[in-house]
Amino acid sequence: MSASLINANRMRIVKIERVVDESSRAKSFYFRDELCSRAEAGQFIMVWIPGVDEIPLSLSSIQPEKSLSSVTVAEVGEATKALNRKREGDMIGVRGPFGNSFKIIRGRVLIVGGGVGLAPLMPLIERLAGIQDTSVTVLAGARTKHELIFLDRLEDEAGKGRIELTVLTEDGSYGGRGLVTDPLENLLSSDRIDMIYGCGPEKMISRLYSVAERFNVPLQICVERIIKCSIGICGSCAIGRYRVCRDGPIFTSDRLREVEDELGKFKRGFDGHPIPIT
Ligand SMILES: Cc1cc2nc3c(=O)[nH]c(=O)nc-3n(C[C@H](O)[C@H](O)[C@H](O)COP(=O)(O)OP(=O)(O)OC[C@H]3O[C@@H](n4cnc5c(N)ncnc54)[C@H](O)[C@@H]3O)c2cc1C
Ligand code: FES
Repeated sequence: MSASLINANRMRIVKIERVVDESSRAKSFYFRDELCSRAEAGQFIMVWIPGVDEIPLSLSSIQPEKSLSSVTVAEVGEATKALNRKREGDMIGVRGPFGNSFKIIRGRVLIVGGGVGLAPLMPLIERLAGIQDTSVTVLAGARTKHELIFLDRLEDEAGKGRIELTVLTEDGSYGGRGLVTDPLENLLSSDRIDMIYGCGPEKMISRLYSVAERFNVPLQICVERIIKCSIGICGSCAIGRYRVCRDGPIFTSDRLREVEDELGKFKRGFDGHPIPIT
């Protein structure tokens, strides 16, 4: 294990500096930690909720100048519920950052985020939006308006002319009605896109992958699997011959082709058995 990974793997106890309600079931938690604030977009950390569990979460903002970072958490089970009950001043533990990151490409890029999948994409969007010879189109989606996250941050970037933003909700309560992947074919037929970045539910990811392959556009996506050790030892996060915690969470088209039999079809549970993705 490298010295930098040993250092990142140390648990640090940090104070929650700020809590932001992002949607009906997601909150962002801001904290100060030197290593996390110097992470790359797409990397994840392990967050320990004392007395409950330790879970993987993507960094949803990275501000090295303030030593500040955040995670954005959608409530699904015990640990995420316990975290979402935390308040400013409460303490949590963090390890990381872990894994690889999105590779920055200049040119015309398309970013597709579904639900809380926008979390690892947001620092990437803010970084790409600041690069002069790069144009950034963002498709952001959720089931309903109340589940859309980062609308203020995205609309702020769009208002400054730094990104082109299309918002879709499945019930049509905000933006266009439909799935976040619906505009893909039209967009890719009419525009030359140099790179697609994406994150969201695995069914969305596998649709994104098949459209990107059909149009021959390279893709970088964030893959989620059960993470326990986070440092490549336990094997719980295996997908094909890769370990998401070490070789991912960002997978490029080349690697996705190797694991396409698993992508969107099954993942492994806590006991290692395959569980179908519905
Ligand atoms: C690299 C990575 C980045 C992630 N980033 C985010 C994020 O930014 N925001 C966010 O809300 N969620 C994120 N997740 C998912 C988040 O880790 C799970 O929602 C959380 O662990 C669920 O824990 P729970 O106790 O609340 O739910 P449980 O009831 O224990 O589980 C609900 C579901 O969450 C998943 N899950 C549970 N434990 C783990 C685990 N240790 N590792 C991975 N998945 C698990 C399983 O699919 C499970 O079926 C990420 C997952 C990974 C792998
Ligand atoms: S979580 Fe243990 S190998 Fe990835």
